[in-house]
Amino acid sequence: MTTYAVTGATGALGALVVGELLGRGVPAADVVAVVRTPSKAEDLAARGVTVRRGDYSAPETLPAALAGVDVLLLVSGNEVGRRVPQHEAVIEAAVDAGVGRIVYTSVLRADTTELALAPEHKATEELLRRSGVLFTVLRNGWYTENYTERIPEYLARGAIVGAAGGGRVAAATRADYAAAAAEVLLGDGHAGAVYELGGTPFTFTELAAQITRASGTEVGYTDVGVAELVGILQGAGLDEPTAGFVAALDEAIARGDLDADPADLVRLLGRPSTPLADAVRASVAV
Ligand SMILES: NC(=O)c1ccc[n+]([C@@H]2O[C@H](COP(=O)([O-])OP(=O)(O)OC[C@H]3O[C@@H](n4cnc5c(N)ncnc54)[C@H](OP(=O)(O)O)[C@@H]3O)[C@@H](O)[C@H]2O)c1
Repeated sequence: MTTYAVTGATGALGALVVGELLGRGVPAADVVAVVRTPSKAEDLAARGVTVRRGDYSAPETLPAALAGVDVLLLVSGNEVGRRVPQHEAVIEAAVDAGVGRIVYTSVLRADTTELALAPEHKATEELLRRSGVLFTVLRNGWYTENYTERIPEYLARGAIVGAAGGGRVAAATRADYAAAAAEVLLGDGHAGAVYELGGTPFTFTELAAQITRASGTEVGYTDVGVAELVGILQGAGLDEPTAGFVAALDEAIARGDLDADPADLVRLLGRPSTPLADAVRASVAV
């Protein structure tokens, strides 16, 4: 019997991974959902999964959360700027608990990219390397949902406004990343592997065309400079640092930081990743 634990299991990706493990026949009794807020995990408990409190910022909660775990998925936290000590606490507790392998959700080319979000992932990968524990790195690209969730806004404006130029985004759905994660948790031969994961790349012009096709409403892509985008985002209510952060992500796309070869994801999935057209159609239909 192997015990699998998934952190961030009340989050979007972690919940999908738990669902994948159960769907692939792992007994619920062998799955531990490590969550910051157990009251948010009633649905998981109802499915027979063991729910344990584990807060990355409360190291004293982690030994009990990770006791008896063989393979751990450490879903990167969402508190940007605090994640290195948080992840370090989980890795240290996992080593102390005798966890056999840690799978970590990182970001594309974490060690070389200029992406502003990458240094915390790079530092976490280094902590894993130094820990001596077996590990696998899932360097996930962007979520398709980052865009499909904004379709109502794009339709209302008749445009996607950005500063990504002709840069390509190798986005994939969270469900695809979750399926890949489950494969890596359950399969042999992944120790030491670093996977660069992304779907079939697309430009914002191609995204706009897919939304037009699926909705019947004309949506174009309007490319503006980074400074202009910051102003537009502030006009829409974002504070200056947030607007700058969002615009910098487009700048990163223009540089190619979020482009990727889909081969690793296809290999782990054993099928093509979900086409952008399907994800857009499903969102428009809602
Ligand atoms: N690839 C992308 O496009 C992209 C986009 C956004 C984020 N990400 C990264 O991918 C991760 C997973 O994505 P997601 O969509 O599942 O994000 P999400 O829905 O925000 O889930 C993040 C999970 O992390 C948990 N968490 C945060 N801080 C914690 C702490 N101190 N202790 C324990 N758990 C903590 C949250 O717990 P609660 O449920 O209690 O809040 C939540 O369950 C994110 O956290 C972020 O690192 C990637």
